[in-house]
Amino acid sequence: MAAAASKVSVTGIKPTGEPHLGNYIGAIRPALELVRDYESIYFIADYHALTTVRDPEFLRHYTRSVAASWLAAGLDPDRTTFYRQSDVPETFELAWVLACLTGKGLMNRAHAYKAARDLNRAAGVDEDSGVNMGLFNYPILMAVDILIMEADVVPVGKDQVQHVEIAADIAGSFNHVYGRDYRLKVPTALIPETDTGQALPGLDGRKMGKSYDNTIPLFVPEKQLKKLVRRIPTDSTPVQAPKDPDRSPVFQLLEYFGSADVVGQTRRQLEVGGLGWGEVKDRLYEVLAELLAPMRDRYDALMQPGSELDEVLAAGAEKARKRATAVLDRVRRAVGI
Ligand code: TRP
Repeated sequence: MAAAASKVSVTGIKPTGEPHLGNYIGAIRPALELVRDYESIYFIADYHALTTVRDPEFLRHYTRSVAASWLAAGLDPDRTTFYRQSDVPETFELAWVLACLTGKGLMNRAHAYKAARDLNRAAGVDEDSGVNMGLFNYPILMAVDILIMEADVVPVGKDQVQHVEIAADIAGSFNHVYGRDYRLKVPTALIPETDTGQALPGLDGRKMGKSYDNTIPLFVPEKQLKKLVRRIPTDSTPVQAPKDPDRSPVFQLLEYFGSADVVGQTRRQLEVGGLGWGEVKDRLYEVLAELLAPMRDRYDALMQPGSELDEVLAAGAEKARKRATAVLDRVRRAVGI
């Protein structure tokens, strides 16, 4: 662990929606735990969002809101570097240099572009229909985010592993050509241990995800939280009858977030009978409300206009630019500019 203490991790967060409990368990919490073992860098990938987001108010709102969410979830800006991608303009200079070293064929094989092209082919329209150059170049921009911070590791879900491999490839191309003068650090993907494929169930029992409309957003007011918990479907087994806890998303959620005592007692009571689903939902609500209340308070405070959020991001930008400028200066010299 001591050797890893000086290693750097970089996490990029796309500001495209309200974070929910599934994100918290699957992505936010594991990413925040990295501070124990790595010098941890986190940034809001606002320019990445531009490949799909066309509404400036939406982008502004979610950039702030996602930043506030991570701070509320425990990101400590004093122990980490936390910034907005758009506050580090060096990114875009390096993006051009690296684009000139990246084979178009490599981009043709990137998943996001390939998926769009395959859909177009299947639909019988031009294969590049609706594909903008931002989508096509996305892996280069992501490579820059990683390489400009000299990351050793990049914690990502499985869907992003290819992007990290592309970043490593691009670093390799740079090093091949200019390595005598300066070498970019070659990163590797780090898949969080908690990414076991066992997903948090959503309100309908399927995996919690925005596309299923079954999420518990992290910062909903308590009244709404209560309503959401009430909405979880349960069968009509009478209160007195024994029930199978493991087939109920209410219980599975309680198992995730409740104390061992509450979970164990609820399991026994369900199995012998005499405990109704309404009461189990009350217990789940209590547990969630207690977990989320302090985070929500912090989030609400940070979302106020003129809150400390802007100062935190400005301080983070300064730290990040120091790192980025150091790398970019050496790259510029190495390529002859
Ligand atoms: N592509 C990532 C996603 O969709 C976000 C991202 C952008 C990122 N740049 C990054 C992640 C750099 C890790 C490192 O989630």
